[in-house]
Amino acid sequence: MLTSIKNAFFETFGRAPEVVTRAPGRIEFLGNHTDYNEGVVLSLAVDRATWVAAAAREDTQCRVHSLEQDSTREFPLDVPADPVPGDWVNYVKGVLVELRKRGYRPPAFDAVIGSTVPMSAGMSSSAALEMSFALAMGRMAGIDLPWTEWARIGQGAENNYVGARTGLLDQFSSLRGRKGHLVFSDFRTLEVDNVPLPDETAVVVADSMVKHQLTNEYNERRSRCEEAVAFLKTRYDGVTALRDVTRAELEACKPDMDIMAWRRAMHVVGENERVFAGVEALAKNDLVGFGRLMFESHESARTLFENSCVELDILVEIGRSLPGCFGARLSGGGFGGISVHLVQATEAENYARRLGTAYQTRTDIAPDIMLCQPDDGAAVVEG
Ligand code: GLA
Repeated sequence: MLTSIKNAFFETFGRAPEVVTRAPGRIEFLGNHTDYNEGVVLSLAVDRATWVAAAAREDTQCRVHSLEQDSTREFPLDVPADPVPGDWVNYVKGVLVELRKRGYRPPAFDAVIGSTVPMSAGMSSSAALEMSFALAMGRMAGIDLPWTEWARIGQGAENNYVGARTGLLDQFSSLRGRKGHLVFSDFRTLEVDNVPLPDETAVVVADSMVKHQLTNEYNERRSRCEEAVAFLKTRYDGVTALRDVTRAELEACKPDMDIMAWRRAMHVVGENERVFAGVEALAKNDLVGFGRLMFESHESARTLFENSCVELDILVEIGRSLPGCFGARLSGGGFGGISVHLVQATEAENYARRLGTAYQTRTDIAPDIMLCQPDDGAAVVEG
């Protein structure tokens, strides 16, 4: 990829890039919609990444070419305040706006983007683009920031420019991934740890091909969680986020709470419990126990948070029936996108094939089934 992105830059702009960066997509492994509730998540940086090759320009015009979209955007360094709805370049512009807010003025630039992260599938192609581009700008402008600040810049691009009120999970995972390991993130303390994923396992990811349009549904779920917190504050001292309530406390409020807010909150509280239990299960090499938590997570998403869809339910159901399956669940925002399956390594290829065939038979949709590996986080590769 390094050679091909450099060649593409040369072909597009007639010169060599100054910097090449790479940032992976992510898979949310356990812990769904917990990040913006100050909870915990197990995720991984996947071995599919977005690459950026860039070089500064003397003037104030920016040019960005996307290899996947086969299209180029040109815009002034003083990015227009309003995004063009649905445009892929918004993530780039959003990062520039966030840098400027913090007092940085990177130069105008030419850039080529190439990616192996599937788009709108729930593998955070957007965070991969933000982080890869942010690191490229950082290197070109000599901006040295702690990694958490780069993550916030990516989140700021989503929240303030694109308009999706996402948490920090995607950027954390893209920055802090490690080969062979999961990323454990605590979004209250902002501490991150790498937890080894046992060798005898493989990660199978199935793209349902149902394209999720995250922004509206996602923001609605987040508001419900905030409503739940507002209620719980009136009952318990010191509650500032769903992280602060136990299952028993939430149960006790059920008769008096808006039932939708209660169900959304119960999903989040349960997910936090499952992530902590999952870390313990992995430490004991209890893969069956870990897989059970994945199935429970999916069930909770389906019935309480209602961010699954028929196709994702089918993928999980088929997975459960196949040899070698430890667990399966939807991954990421939901409402389409991917399911993630933890599988015995020796069965992985067979599993992937049978999952694909059975899904196509049931839905008439050809899915994209991927064998994925946890990989290292984002980095400047050259320059
Ligand atoms: C999306 C968001 C993340 C996180 C997940 C759900 O990927 O971008 O911040 O909230 O959904 O866990």
